[in-house]
Amino acid sequence: MKKILFAASECVPFIKTGGLADVVGSLPKNFNKKEFDVRVVLPKYACMKQEWKEKLEYLTNFYMGYNGRERYVGIFKLKLDGVIFYFIDNEEYFNGDKPYYGGLWDIERYGYFSKAVLSILPIIDFRPDVIHCHDWQTGLVPVYLDHFRFQGEYFRGIKTIMTIHNLKFQGVWGTKEVREVVGLPEYYFSPDKLEAYHDANLLKGGIVYADKVTTVSNTYADEIKTPFFGEGLDGLMNARSNSLSGIVNGIDYDEYNPETDIWLSHNYSVENFRKEKVKNKVALQTELGLEKNPKKMMIGIISRLTEQKGFDLVAHVMDEMCQDEVQFVILGTGDEQYENMFRHFAWKYPDKVSANIYYSEAMSHKIYGSCDAFLMPSLFEPCGLSQLMSLRFGTLPIVRETGGLKDTVQPYNEYEKTGTGFSFANYNAHEMMGIVRYAEKIYYDKKRDWNKMVERAMTKDFSWATSAKQYEDLYKYL
Ligand code: GLC
Repeated sequence: MKKILFAASECVPFIKTGGLADVVGSLPKNFNKKEFDVRVVLPKYACMKQEWKEKLEYLTNFYMGYNGRERYVGIFKLKLDGVIFYFIDNEEYFNGDKPYYGGLWDIERYGYFSKAVLSILPIIDFRPDVIHCHDWQTGLVPVYLDHFRFQGEYFRGIKTIMTIHNLKFQGVWGTKEVREVVGLPEYYFSPDKLEAYHDANLLKGGIVYADKVTTVSNTYADEIKTPFFGEGLDGLMNARSNSLSGIVNGIDYDEYNPETDIWLSHNYSVENFRKEKVKNKVALQTELGLEKNPKKMMIGIISRLTEQKGFDLVAHVMDEMCQDEVQFVILGTGDEQYENMFRHFAWKYPDKVSANIYYSEAMSHKIYGSCDAFLMPSLFEPCGLSQLMSLRFGTLPIVRETGGLKDTVQPYNEYEKTGTGFSFANYNAHEMMGIVRYAEKIYYDKKRDWNKMVERAMTKDFSWATSAKQYEDLYKYL
């Protein structure tokens, strides 16, 4: 039996700001239980939902030296869907009303968390064969592990994997300050280790010290070796390319299932979507005050509203696209500039655009279950999960060919009658609009082809089965 410990800063259903939480929440359930004992460790945030906080079982506490004094480390535990979760408690660090604050404060908090992840192991009596770290917040785990090796037998032989969900976020601050806070020897802060461009970089530390580095799609694994996607670390990604691989994410096929979804007014399947799915569209048009018309093509957008997601392209041609026979339904929050952009178009085209500037699980499922197409023109996209959810619901993704979008959406070929969606190559607003209009044309003029494509989309398998197997192989190899 191999023991694996996931370390991460967010995880569904406890705390979520992005796709990372979906992955950390669903992947551990999908390993072969006879061969792998996979557990997860998270910070115990005060801003977790009350219903979960109440369920945590207190195990013990101890003190750990960190940033100049002895710090309280409480350990809580919860078993959910057969997976054991540990929560690290320190009110000073995790008492805020949100998980992230930015700057040196986050570096101090997640440095503490990373050190605590290792320090609790002898106490919970779980010595993992592999610690699987996710994103910069756990970047110091492999570094502390290297440091701990010199202090005793216990930590020798524990392997680490660093999974990059988004290379844009690295955990960077002035070397001197970081060194003081995290308390690692000066030796670690050289340009071949934690230092990058004269600052300390926590993710870089993780990438340098992890035994294996993975990212969440094959294409992104290649892209990050180039300057545009490499975020300053493309040299390092090239240097580590022998240990770097891409494993595409999956989604939870029980949670995302149009046949059983509790939020849809009409459930449907690959057999009856032609008749049933459109009823959800009419229900949503009614709920959101859009023109009620089952025939009108509806395009969904569910996203963090940030530059990464390609909304500059949308802003540029939204007026033009709104001249067409289409409706847009947007759900999400983020940068004010994009929130206001969508609010503006909803105001200007009230029967065509619905801007829902909030997040709701229920509304997201209704959008996946109602729209005809789903727009995701990302500037870069390590994997992307929404396009997988869309495929599952027979809502055809329109994507830019980057990262995981390129690996999971097969563009329509009208001559060969293949494909599960639409895609365009260049980060260019008119190129995007060209593809949106092409999709409109197929939707209105070639409905049979469109429906065939929906069928193919719905029968694609992006559950975790295949990807979990690839992680298992990696664990075994280590
Ligand atoms: C980040 C990436 C997204 C990926 C997710 C989970 O949010 O931006 O592309 O799907 O992590 O790996």
